[in-house]
Amino acid sequence: MLCTWKTSDLQLLLILTVFLVAALSMVGKQNDSKRLAEVNSSQPVRVDTKIVLSCHPIPTSVLVTWEIILRDKPLCTKAYRSDNNVTKEVNCTDKRITWAFRPDQNSSLLIDPVAITHDGYYRCLKATPDGNFHRGYNLQVLGKEHHILWYFRSYLG
Ligand SMILES: *[C@@H]1O[C@H](CO)[C@@H](O)[C@H](O)[C@H]1NC(C)=O
Ligand SMILES: *[C@@H]1O[C@H](CO)[C@@H](O)[C@H](O)[C@H]1NC(C)=O
Ligand SMILES: *[C@@H]1O[C@H](CO)[C@@H](O)[C@H](O)[C@H]1NC(C)=O
Ligand SMILES: *[C@@H]1O[C@H](CO)[C@@H](O)[C@H](O)[C@H]1NC(C)=O
Ligand SMILES: *[C@@H]1O[C@H](CO)[C@@H](O)[C@H](O)[C@H]1NC(C)=O
Repeated sequence: MLCTWKTSDLQLLLILTVFLVAALSMVGKQNDSKRLAEVNSSQPVRVDTKIVLSCHPIPTSVLVTWEIILRDKPLCTKAYRSDNNVTKEVNCTDKRITWAFRPDQNSSLLIDPVAITHDGYYRCLKATPDGNFHRGYNLQVLGKEHHILWYFRSYLG
């Protein structure tokens, strides 16, 4: 009885090891350009300034989509289709968030001026014949109280 238990334990261990080795070698072989396709970064910004969030730099795209996820707001989507040169917006009410340039030339997003309510997640997706490319920003808006704290701290030395 004890012997069968031990055998099955060993078998389980062996199966697990084989799985782990296989999984690790898959990770090692993962294509570098695929990994670069998804980028997330944290972006601190002060209130009352402006910020330009750039999309993935790949130049050829059929569709560019910005998804703006803010607290207590519906998901806002801004899209530009290059085949018919048309822009579309769904659920976007904040006039301070716009395309930074002409979307047929540059897919960056502009927030001007930045407010505390702009704290959130901004995700750009470029659909190209070579696949989809994402870039995400976790925007952290630093309020005025940060400045006051900063001055206070430097004053105290
Ligand atoms: C990685 O993928 C790209 C396009 O998806 C391809 O051009 C390249 O040859 C691939 N590289 C490797 C090492 O598989
Ligand atoms: C990027 O951040 C968002 C929001 O925090 C998260 O949902 C998503 O899974 C992240 N993606 C990657 C590739 O890290
Ligand atoms: C619009 O807002 C609703 C409610 O939050 C959401 O379910 C929907 O996905 C949004 N549509 C787009 C295209 O962002
Ligand atoms: C797209 O449309 C705008 C006007 O809506 C025009 O100024 C621009 O030249 C067009 N771009 C292309 C690439 O056709
Ligand atoms: C769009 O403009 C931004 C900000 O000026 C710049 O960083 C980016 O390289 C531009 N992208 C393209 C495709 O020209």
